[in-house]
Amino acid sequence: MSVDIYKFDESILGSDSPDPLRFAFVKKHSAHAGGSSMPVPPPQQSAIFSRITSETTTSKKRCLYIHVPFCRVRCTFCNFFQNAASRTLVDEYFSALMKELKKKAALPWTQSGIFHAVYIGGGTPTDLSPEQVKTLGQAIHDYFPLTADCEITLEGRINRFSDELYLGALDGGFNRFSFGVQSFNTQVRRSAKRLDDREDVLKRVSELAKEDKIPVIIDLLYGLPYQTKDVLHQDLTDFMSTGAHGLDLYQLVVGGSAPMLNLVEKGKIPPPATTPEKAGMYELGVKFMADHHMKQLSVNHWAIDNRERSLYNSLAKTYAEVLPVGCGAGGNIGSYGMMQHRTLATYMNAVNEGQSTIAMMMKQSPLEPLFASLKSGFDRGIIQASKLPVFMGEDTFNFLMPLFKVWHDKGLVELQERSLVLTLAGSFWSVPLAQACIQVLTSEMSIAVPQASNH
Ligand SMILES: C[S@@+](CC[C@H](N)C(=O)[O-])C[C@H]1O[C@@H](n2cnc3c(N)ncnc32)[C@H](O)[C@@H]1O
Ligand code: SF4
Repeated sequence: MSVDIYKFDESILGSDSPDPLRFAFVKKHSAHAGGSSMPVPPPQQSAIFSRITSETTTSKKRCLYIHVPFCRVRCTFCNFFQNAASRTLVDEYFSALMKELKKKAALPWTQSGIFHAVYIGGGTPTDLSPEQVKTLGQAIHDYFPLTADCEITLEGRINRFSDELYLGALDGGFNRFSFGVQSFNTQVRRSAKRLDDREDVLKRVSELAKEDKIPVIIDLLYGLPYQTKDVLHQDLTDFMSTGAHGLDLYQLVVGGSAPMLNLVEKGKIPPPATTPEKAGMYELGVKFMADHHMKQLSVNHWAIDNRERSLYNSLAKTYAEVLPVGCGAGGNIGSYGMMQHRTLATYMNAVNEGQSTIAMMMKQSPLEPLFASLKSGFDRGIIQASKLPVFMGEDTFNFLMPLFKVWHDKGLVELQERSLVLTLAGSFWSVPLAQACIQVLTSEMSIAVPQASNH
């Protein structure tokens, strides 16, 4: 059996265009593809969390995600901003965070397995004090079962990243830095409300990379106001000049709450790049990386050498379970997805009164393992038939083959015997392609098993 694709429209099949890189789809709406899930009513959430975390299981790979929801200044493009940082607030939050961390570390579920990757994300975790960074890192080592080669990332920014902070991170046992740079260009940075100028950022990234004790990975965006193709080319050249160990190159996707749209509307800054313009920038980036013999780890991630593994990114996008800690952290355990409270006061009250920190819980679709496998394949740029779980007793790769053939004819994928390789255009559109597979499978399953959509 295989899917009858002719009932699906261009949002699934892609449009017929001689230029699929720019025009196969209209635009990318979000950073990640997602499958459908059923909300768990709030009164049941706490009991379910207790049940799944009192179970002992060692079968899956695990990650720990810790969220630090503060930033000094809100960048105009950002969808992740939660709270303005102040020393008192950060200190109060840190005590609550450590309490929650110890409590979650003591769960039978936590102690029964082993964690392969830890990610301290934000917000801006580098706004913690050097002592807090050290304490946090040491607590992770002291309380959690970690693999010997566990990747422990501290995310943040170069702004006020002092020598003391660096030493705090080393003492805390962090072994990977992920710094958001976004662009080195001073005009682009100032218009986005980034705090330092090009020369300062270049100097500090280069110094940290040169130390060579902890790999330094940087994030660049493409499509920001004032960031022409020439500016992007210079950004990539600047990245190479720093000697940093890896690069994430993300397409700018501005969400509803980001201040940029309002500033553009008022004529204060030029609009960000259109989707076809961003497609051209992606092409430039991919070519630049290939010309410089960078190792491509995924559709938007490159490494200079084998030191950068990007373990958290690849594990958290696959079948790994993620234990969430902190205000606004998200994760998944068993077949449940969960989001912690996003409001600081609610989160801190919950921790201090020994209550549940979960704001939202979802029972994942029974197809989630398959969706995760597809998302991971599309993120890597290669979908292997052997890695996909079966779909309703069928070989998933064969089931989706009619869709893959349409994409092949549109220049989005290359078909090999038992694998699908994304072209440059397919790599640019990898999230809509993953989402299309998920939608097709969800709709076929609800036709075959109507009650599936109710569970
Ligand atoms: C949540 S931020 C935290 C990083 C850090 N606070 C900083 O300022 O660089 C992680 C990454 O998300 C990416 N990001 C933020 N806003 C984005 C947007 N609107 N579209 C695409 N990526 C975005 C940026 O590249 C950023 O480095
Ligand atoms: S990019 Fe980083 S510093 Fe800027 S608002 Fe977003 S999370 Fe905060």
